[in-house]
Amino acid sequence: MIRPSRNHPGYWAFLLHRLSGLALVLFLPAHFWALGTALNEAEFAGFIAWTAHPLVKAGEWGLVVLLAAHLTGGARLLMLEFLPWSGAQNTRIAVALGLAALFGGVFALGLAT
Ligand code: HEM
Repeated sequence: MIRPSRNHPGYWAFLLHRLSGLALVLFLPAHFWALGTALNEAEFAGFIAWTAHPLVKAGEWGLVVLLAAHLTGGARLLMLEFLPWSGAQNTRIAVALGLAALFGGVFALGLAT
């Protein structure tokens, strides 16, 4: 149950940024392991064939959306830190989320073709 004092866009944006950052950190070792399979041609071919599975594609899409959300949210945080104060923080959160959703949509279209 979320505390009422935390139930505002700034808190949800913070939570999304932290969770997406942690998910990206967890993905990195798996990514390095996948790169390592390229040392053996047959193992790499097997790995690439596995990535064609729809569940893997869905995971890939989720990862791209998390990266996009972390990128746009991170850009928003850097604006907050380095630009003069603006009262339009909720608008910037909405723009960051919208851009991340756009990235996700474009990537999903690419997966479908
Ligand atoms: C794509 C470009 C990226 C941008 C613009 C970006 C931006 C940022 C910013 C500004 C912060 C500080 C947040 C704060 O002040 O509280 C941050 C935190 C963090 N980032 Fe990124 N980041 C990017 C990519 C990544 C990647 C690829 C990873 C993981 C491999 C990552 C993992 C994290 C983690 C774990 C945190 C700490 C989150 C927290 O303490 O709440 N970031 N990022």
